Amino acid sequence: MCGIFGGIMKDGNVAPIIHQALKRLEYRGYDSVGEATIYGEKLYIKKDCGKIDEVHKIHNLDSLPGNIGIGHTRWATHGAPSEINAHPHIDCGGQIAIVHNGIIENFAELKLELENKGHIFKSRTDTEVIAHLIEEAYKNNPSIRLADAVLETVRKLEGSYAIAVISSREPNKIVCARNESPLVLGLGENALYCASDIPAFLPLTNKAVIIEDGELVTLSLEGYEIRKIADSSIVTRAPKIIDWTPEMAVKQGYPHFMLKEIHEQPACLRNTLRLQEHYLDLMTTFLDRAREVFLVACGTSYHACLAASYMFSKLAFLATYPVIASEFIEQHGKSVNIESTILAVSQSGETADTLAAVNAARQRAATILGLTNVVGSTLTRVSRVYIIQQSGPEIGVAATKTFTSQLSVLAQLALRLAKKRGKISQDEMDFLEAKLKQIPDIVAKIIEKQEENVKAVAKKYRDAKVFFFLGRGISTATAYEGRLKLIEIAYVPAIAFPAGESKHGPISLVEQGFPVVFICPKDETHRTIIGNIMEMKARGATIIAIIEEGDEEVKKLADDYIEVPKGVPDVLSPIPFVIPLQLLAYYMAVEKGHNPDVPKNLAKSVTVK
Ligand code: AGP
Repeated sequence: MCGIFGGIMKDGNVAPIIHQALKRLEYRGYDSVGEATIYGEKLYIKKDCGKIDEVHKIHNLDSLPGNIGIGHTRWATHGAPSEINAHPHIDCGGQIAIVHNGIIENFAELKLELENKGHIFKSRTDTEVIAHLIEEAYKNNPSIRLADAVLETVRKLEGSYAIAVISSREPNKIVCARNESPLVLGLGENALYCASDIPAFLPLTNKAVIIEDGELVTLSLEGYEIRKIADSSIVTRAPKIIDWTPEMAVKQGYPHFMLKEIHEQPACLRNTLRLQEHYLDLMTTFLDRAREVFLVACGTSYHACLAASYMFSKLAFLATYPVIASEFIEQHGKSVNIESTILAVSQSGETADTLAAVNAARQRAATILGLTNVVGSTLTRVSRVYIIQQSGPEIGVAATKTFTSQLSVLAQLALRLAKKRGKISQDEMDFLEAKLKQIPDIVAKIIEKQEENVKAVAKKYRDAKVFFFLGRGISTATAYEGRLKLIEIAYVPAIAFPAGESKHGPISLVEQGFPVVFICPKDETHRTIIGNIMEMKARGATIIAIIEEGDEEVKKLADDYIEVPKGVPDVLSPIPFVIPLQLLAYYMAVEKGHNPDVPKNLAKSVTVK
């Protein structure tokens, strides 16, 4: 996730406006920043790695001349944070500058083609191909308009993008386009803006036009023209008046970052399906060779590991050991060795307990693999191979979108390993891959259809003193995660167990009205979980069930139920089934008057042991 901005003004210098807009977009990424402007038919660029204030201090971004320009604040996906990888990127001739938010899936093929045609690349980003493709369009047709050159270019791109382009060949225009990454226009008095989101320009204008997927826009001082990328047809869309307060604006109208991040999950999950095959394959090779595999993490990331241990076992017949990082050294510190492999999972890549476990294992020559959301984090530096999960910055202390993204990446690894080991047929593989592709839409549907329902459940149980969360099989991980969310932001004591274990002790707590949340996908565990529901009901428990649509059997037993679409295979079920639990914790916290974004005593990144 990155932030892009473009501005064209009748009078005055645009650079300070871009700078301020990027500050308002900084929550979307903050490892590098850059601006490009045009003045006197010449392109000017300043960019570097570091936070906006740091880069501005060194380079004085505001000194760029001209009334037209673009800017970018980066959250690295392809290529480490560095001056060379920072946006804007330019073509060989230094006439075209581009900023981009998204992932170009076919950049490697396009880059090769362009290199064969003589283009010289400077960065390791996927974005740079766009600048060279536009240059190529000019080469093929010197009289082409910038808008048409960009149109030709974006038709060749696969993946997600919101881009803004300027060219000294047509110095009075900004061309922008969108596919699966957000893009909005701001219409000022004597200025036009394009941006990743509304807060970027809200202090300048509250008149916005939302750009949709598959659209390209040309901005000039005369106004804006929207065209469909597919057939170049003109689109007319009236502006909207935005009445957000500045605080609401940063959260894009959501009352809290956590809710915004819950809603971002379909987009983040789509990003996880665009990871570079090369890294997935490399990590799969290491997992395949390992004599023993430890999945090491804390908190929510540990729950992703727990779910992954079921995925690896069921799909690839690989036994893995999920270990809470703070226990790793005591439990395995003496036995871990050169033949051990540690897959460390950490959203931040900076969690002290996880890094301590990793360092202990490294000292004993174990192989370290990393899954993280933060490029350049310590975990990436100590891992032999690492994967960036592409969730974008997560601001809410409670992990939501980063959890489901971790699950999606781990499922992809398990599937690849299964294929490599010949443990599943091509048909099964195709089926599971197709299901994985449907997951973002399934998650979107759950949020759309069930949010109000979950809100009502939260209201009903707002005064409950304690909750049980029970699941079987892989849903045990979902139950643990539901419990953690509720504890950390709603401050409600909660207990989670594999459902089969509840009768070995925890059931003694149950009395009339005791709320028990059951995770009930219609997988092999369904029959037995019904038995566990009956046991709880017999002791007076109130049952809240997360079920598949049309699961009449559980519906009859439950006091309240939340439905998720049917047909999700068990190994993928934690992704959809955790969504209602995230919403439940969120609305319980709100009902109780707590701010879910900043739970007491907690930090987003726990850098102490
Ligand atoms: C999750 O909601 C928590 N805030 C916390 O448990 C978190 O998952 C844990 O601290 C691990 O963080 P990491 O993924 O950055 O390593």
